[in-house]
Amino acid sequence: MSHFDQILSEAQAAFAAAADVPALEQAKARFLGKSGSLTELLKGLGKLDPDARRAAGAEINQCKSAVEAALEARREALRASQLETQLRAEALDVSLPGRGMGVGGLHPVNRTLERFETLFRSIGFEVADGPEIEGDWHNFTALNTPENHPARSMHDTFYLQDAPGVLLRTHTSPVQIRSMQAHAAKYADADVMPELRIIAPGRVYRVDSDATHSPMFHQVEGLWIGENISFAGLKGVIIDFLKRFFETDELQVRFRPSFFPFTEPSAEIDFAFMSGPNKGRWLEIAGCGMVHPNVLKNGDIDAQRYTGFAFGMGLDRLTMLRYGINDLRLFFENDLRFLTQFKD
Ligand code: FA5
Ligand code: MG
Repeated sequence: MSHFDQILSEAQAAFAAAADVPALEQAKARFLGKSGSLTELLKGLGKLDPDARRAAGAEINQCKSAVEAALEARREALRASQLETQLRAEALDVSLPGRGMGVGGLHPVNRTLERFETLFRSIGFEVADGPEIEGDWHNFTALNTPENHPARSMHDTFYLQDAPGVLLRTHTSPVQIRSMQAHAAKYADADVMPELRIIAPGRVYRVDSDATHSPMFHQVEGLWIGENISFAGLKGVIIDFLKRFFETDELQVRFRPSFFPFTEPSAEIDFAFMSGPNKGRWLEIAGCGMVHPNVLKNGDIDAQRYTGFAFGMGLDRLTMLRYGINDLRLFFENDLRFLTQFKD
């Protein structure tokens, strides 16, 4: 065996023995590196006379090409086997059955709404509805809200462009007017008008945004009209509802005197967090009061004969209190890590 054949077969054996790319690079250095055997031979050429140099040079180069080819072949083989291993490790059997399906759940605000409706239906309330795009008259004027009231300003209310007097309703109170008018029309010829008892849940809109205010939120309007309806009745209904909603008699709730153009007297209702990071802190949940006679008139109801109470409660706020949540924006971000906590 010539010296060159020997170098080649040593190289082939060394490359074959390399189990991975780093080992192969190490083996390569022994032959083609700075002091590798072929490199040393090439360095020695300078000492030969021209004819011998030409002949030896050709042989060395031939051997070098053969070693390089063996190296490349081994590289290719290692690459292929590495790919194969990886493919085997990451193999997917698409014919396997799935590992169970994700089960959806009701949004926490919808859960509150369902409880709200169940509890109020149980005391004889019906569920009413009204449009989210309202007219200025239903949202403000009929509710005794004067022309210059700050709630009417563009800072608080979303108006529709190029449609004067058309807006996104800022509260569910316009449904009071619609329900009274429909009720009055239905019993126009009757001697006695039956009591009107409705709740009206839905989306409302305001130019508002922080941890307890969002530009779109949910209210439920409540309205009870009849003979001898009193503020004491309002307090009783609200407190009884809150006890049943929160499933406890140990409520911290207060009626704080307030002002609304459409009720007289008026109050706002505050409720203290029972759990969560805000435990013990008060949060306003509703406005309420005795329906103003002007509002009864705008709803075609005889204000001499009938009285009524009304309230508008924040559903998102009730949900925050029920679950001890400190930022209502979580309800609208659709983060599954938050939402799946309310699955069952
Ligand atoms: C009203 O909207 C009155 N229409 C309520 C009312 C109805 C009074 C009937 C009298 C008779 P107020 O602006 O306070 O009132 O809103 C009522 C409730 O909605 C608040 O107590 C709060 O719970 C909720 N709320 C108000 N603004 C927001 C908001 N930006 N994000 C979330 N909840 C809100
Ligand atoms: Mg308020």
